[in-house]
Amino acid sequence: MLRLDEFLPDDWSAEPRNVRTYEHSMTVANAARLVASRIAALDPEKAYMYGMMHDVGKFYLPANEAYKHPRIGFKLLETKHNDIAEICVSHAFPDFSDLEHILSYCHGDKPEAHAVCELLSNIKHDLYIDLIQFCDKVSGIGTYMTIEAKYDWYIERDIMIQNDVTLRYLETLQSIKKKLDKLVGYDLYALIGASQNSKEPVRKKVHVDGRGCSLQ
Ligand SMILES: [Fe+2]
Repeated sequence: MLRLDEFLPDDWSAEPRNVRTYEHSMTVANAARLVASRIAALDPEKAYMYGMMHDVGKFYLPANEAYKHPRIGFKLLETKHNDIAEICVSHAFPDFSDLEHILSYCHGDKPEAHAVCELLSNIKHDLYIDLIQFCDKVSGIGTYMTIEAKYDWYIERDIMIQNDVTLRYLETLQSIKKKLDKLVGYDLYALIGASQNSKEPVRKKVHVDGRGCSLQ
């Protein structure tokens, strides 16, 4: 199994933002392994590795370009590890066909959104992709929150705007959770211990992801 450390710049830990991303990745990976261990079709160790690797692109970008990390992660891994590359580019986009959400996530950067759409058009949305999308969205740093509480958390802090695009995004994530619940046989929120309260203090600030911006 690959390790995230092998793919990071030498001085990555000098940047507190990178340390938070690393800790968030561990949180995602632990949830992914736990959920995958309850689904026969999934390999828990592979799920753990995907969780660790999904944000690798973020370590190579300044904060104001972090929205490009799905595609940059893909580029880093596409030649030798195509399966992980696909996890990287897909993890922020629960509905590959929702062009408005993709453009919104890319902060209105049309060339970036176009490049992401191009890559997503060649990817099959499989169960590992569902798993990492779900685990990413419920993970903070060492803490878990329901998708609904995380959505409220983003809205309350003006990280995300409540509009048709972000509500549709929320619904797609809820349908992914339902699908995984069915496969596991019970409620994933109970399995991972997700808090339903968006007011509950998060140990440290979670990384900003899935940002919703009004379309220009
Ligand atoms: Fe991410």
